[in-house]
Amino acid sequence: MFARPRHRMIEPAPEPMRRPAADAAPAVEILSAEKVFPNGTRGLAPVSLTLREGEFVSLIGPSGCGKSTLLSLVANLHQPSDGRLLWWRGGFDRVGADGRRLAVVFQDATLMPWLRIAGNVRLPLDLAGMGRAEAGPRVQAALDLVGLGAQGRHFPRQLSGGMRMRAAIARGLVTEPNLLLMDEPFGALDEFTRNKLDADLVDLWWRRSLTVLFVTHSIYEAVFLSTRVVVMAARPGRIFAELAIDEPHPRGEAFRMSPRFAEHCRALSRVLTDASLASDGPEGGR
Ligand SMILES: Nc1ncnc2c1ncn2[C@@H]1O[C@H](COP(=O)(O)OP(=O)(O)OP(=O)(O)O)[C@@H](O)[C@H]1O
Ligand SMILES: [Mg+2]
Repeated sequence: MFARPRHRMIEPAPEPMRRPAADAAPAVEILSAEKVFPNGTRGLAPVSLTLREGEFVSLIGPSGCGKSTLLSLVANLHQPSDGRLLWWRGGFDRVGADGRRLAVVFQDATLMPWLRIAGNVRLPLDLAGMGRAEAGPRVQAALDLVGLGAQGRHFPRQLSGGMRMRAAIARGLVTEPNLLLMDEPFGALDEFTRNKLDADLVDLWWRRSLTVLFVTHSIYEAVFLSTRVVVMAARPGRIFAELAIDEPHPRGEAFRMSPRFAEHCRALSRVLTDASLASDGPEGGR
């Protein structure tokens, strides 16, 4: 588990219950968003998807089906060629205010090798012009949260791959985001470390009432983490199906070992096979 909270950025664990996500307010609305790249590749056919506050939505699908493209639209790193997106019912200028903060974590930890871990985690606050005195406790709180409270003075090369990924997550959390976008964050890790980070992440999502959009290739990971799994197909990239993982939270090892977990994995595996078959046609998206 990530370390227990000691700073104001972390709330006490709520009682186990189901999330009332179905009628929660939308955090992000993707409205017939399409993406054609300058070289003519159609990365995304029109896609519509609403992320509601408190949801944990995973995107899964064959390579090239547009998962990263979709996430980059939500992060406003790319603009749609057609259609539009709303963040908290407005334009991207709404993002950044209290209750409407966004952070992105990519597969590569992409830490600056010449900065200590604390310096890496402080970067977003430095960029926002926050002074050292104010930033210090926030950096420590984020490091504590991911279990790296004692490693702030280390350099990235002194940490394991899993620890570096934790540092990247701390850097994402230091701005206290409400919406967390993650593109295969644990894809490069061994299964044991990944399972542990998954358990930590779902615990964090629960305690911090985050909204998460998570890209993965792992059926197990998608089922373990998500309130909803969105399956995409390729050529052109599109939404193929959605599966609700309507299971109680917080989830732990007991859920991973349960027959319900295995049932969800089987169902998702079947849909994913269909999505892969539907992606095998000619380059219809071009
Ligand atoms: N900058 C770009 N320029 C041109 N084509 C691109 C660009 N980025 C992505 N594409 C194309 O858009 C499609 C979707 O790519 P994307 O990276 O979103 O897929 P993905 O689902 O994330 O794949 P993977 O699982 O391999 O990460 C692919 O055909 C890809 O080649
Ligand atoms: Mg990708």
